[in-house]
Amino acid sequence: MTRRAIYPGSFDPITNGHLDIIERSAKLFDEVIVSVLVNEDKNPMFSTQERVELIQTVSRWSNVTVGTFEGLLVHYAVEQGAQVIVRGIRAVSDYEYELQMALMNRRLEPRVETVFMMSAEAYSYLSSRLIKEVFRLGGAISGLVPPEVEEQMKKMFTRE
Ligand code: PNS
Repeated sequence: MTRRAIYPGSFDPITNGHLDIIERSAKLFDEVIVSVLVNEDKNPMFSTQERVELIQTVSRWSNVTVGTFEGLLVHYAVEQGAQVIVRGIRAVSDYEYELQMALMNRRLEPRVETVFMMSAEAYSYLSSRLIKEVFRLGGAISGLVPPEVEEQMKKMFTRE
């Protein structure tokens, strides 16, 4: 049986912390689908399409693909034939929200299991939200996002 996992999120934009979780997942599962939620944030930095393209550019594992989803995550997971939802946990503060989501998702769809992974310590404080804030205020973000993402952010900034 093919072990297929979904790694869902907003990915606005993808960070080195996300990439760390993708790499760990790619080793554990036969196939990993990085799944970008469409239209969650009304004011995103990158469009869904731009986010997908950035993830495709920086993801270098042959068993990792990128997709998008709308509506309930568990419906999408079943549609894709995935048995597992992967979520990264950084600090204790992530736990409560993640526990709620995992239990709700299990109630909605008991066939899909949520698997939590710890990101490398170096990325444990990273979030897309903080990276955008630091970047907008002129702080250095190199080493926190892939170079391609930083480049794209610089381009957007000069457009803004
Ligand atoms: O990167 P994020 O923003 O923490 O990801 C959150 C995400 C996309 C995993 C979550 O918001 C989600 O699954 N949304 C889809 C709608 C859904 O299924 N909601 C019920 C979750 S219990």
